Amino acid sequence: MNSCRVCGNNLKEFINFGMMPIANSFKKTIQIDEYKFQMSVGFCENCMTVQLINQPDPVKMFHENYAFFSSSSNYMQTHFREFANKVIEDRLLDKKSIVVEIGCNDGILLENFKERKIISVGIEPSKNVARIAEKKGIDVINEFFNENVVNQIVKKFKKADVILSANVICHIPDINSIFSGIKKLLASDGLFIFEDPYLLDIINKNSFDQIYDEHVFLFSAMSVSYLANKNDLELICVQPQKTHGGSMRYTIGHKNAHKIDKSVVNQISLEKTNGLHLFKSYCNFEINILKIKVELINLLKILKSENKTVVGYAATSKSTTLINFFGITSDLLPVIFDTTPNKFNTYSPGANIPILPYSLFHESDPDYVLLFAWNHSEEIMTKEASFMKENRKWILYVPKLQVI
Ligand code: SAM
Ligand code: TMP
Ligand code: ZN
Repeated sequence: MNSCRVCGNNLKEFINFGMMPIANSFKKTIQIDEYKFQMSVGFCENCMTVQLINQPDPVKMFHENYAFFSSSSNYMQTHFREFANKVIEDRLLDKKSIVVEIGCNDGILLENFKERKIISVGIEPSKNVARIAEKKGIDVINEFFNENVVNQIVKKFKKADVILSANVICHIPDINSIFSGIKKLLASDGLFIFEDPYLLDIINKNSFDQIYDEHVFLFSAMSVSYLANKNDLELICVQPQKTHGGSMRYTIGHKNAHKIDKSVVNQISLEKTNGLHLFKSYCNFEINILKIKVELINLLKILKSENKTVVGYAATSKSTTLINFFGITSDLLPVIFDTTPNKFNTYSPGANIPILPYSLFHESDPDYVLLFAWNHSEEIMTKEASFMKENRKWILYVPKLQVI
């Protein structure tokens, strides 16, 4: 039996991706025997949480060579500046306030609080990105969030006025211990605000590539509400976000300490209208993905037979799921271009497709460009508009296969 990490109930499996590598394990040399794990997804009919059935040990994913640098996207920098400003205004934060962020990465969010002289503490286990945040003057604890970290913060400062987290909570398997730690760390009128990719967007957009080793949970308002309640906390507001192809910002407080916004009840009702409480919705999602798989592979084979050049745009974590699940090899997709220096001249996880610097993209003279960073499509398509006009085409696969 596979037990739900939130409530212990039996999980119902709905999709099995097979053996998958670590999504961000870009390698300096070709490796054929790299670490892989069985990636399948289950739904809990009791607490409505969608989750990976197995997840690799976190230290295999988050370490001194973690490849994801938050500040590499301009769009995300603006998003986090606006997020910080809103929190400062709404909560009237000042020099006496303390903000804690779980998974602060390179300090993209906390630097905005630091600039306003608000005490900013980041908890970040990946040493390389933690060091960048430290250089920005942020107080960083280079560890996984746990009870010991909570005690350290309360002892050194006080309980947190605000606890923030973005694209991290859905990464942490031992989720009840995270929520019980938050319960201890949060001041009596404090708020815990976190954002993660949103299950309803994933289902409606068929964005199955949001499922990879790091994303152990795909949350919804229904499941977060259950999780909060179980830990003597309460979901008091939800606000949809455009980031990562559709995310949700969840605001949580101590039970009975805040008025519950009507957005919570409205969102849960929308989720039920869309069938997020029903196992059959997840089975339909699987059917849609398998259709995209057949169509994309056929297209790549046809383009190869016509001697067209196809290249990948952006070596995203998401691309690892698509490439490995669809069985895309370097003879169908010989190269992916990316802007992150750490990924330059590496090989993609699992499929060993070469990753080259973005500066070489235009001279590769492609006929077709497979866009893996589809969540940044507006920014990218604007940037590449004149280049793509020269008789080149984008290949998109979310929400369905399209050549434009
Ligand atoms: N918050 C940033 C953002 O939204 O761009 C970074 C998100 S990144 C996808 C996930 C981050 O969470 C990584 O920097 C990772 O090291 C950190 N992380 C993973 N597990 C954690 C844990 N248990 N406690 C604290 N941070 C964790
Ligand atoms: P992620 O989907 O795992 O967040 O990774 C985003 C990757 O996309 C990161 O390696 C940078 C890359 N990227 C580009 O190469 N070009 C771009 O224009 C954008 C927005 C991202
Ligand atoms: Zn459950």
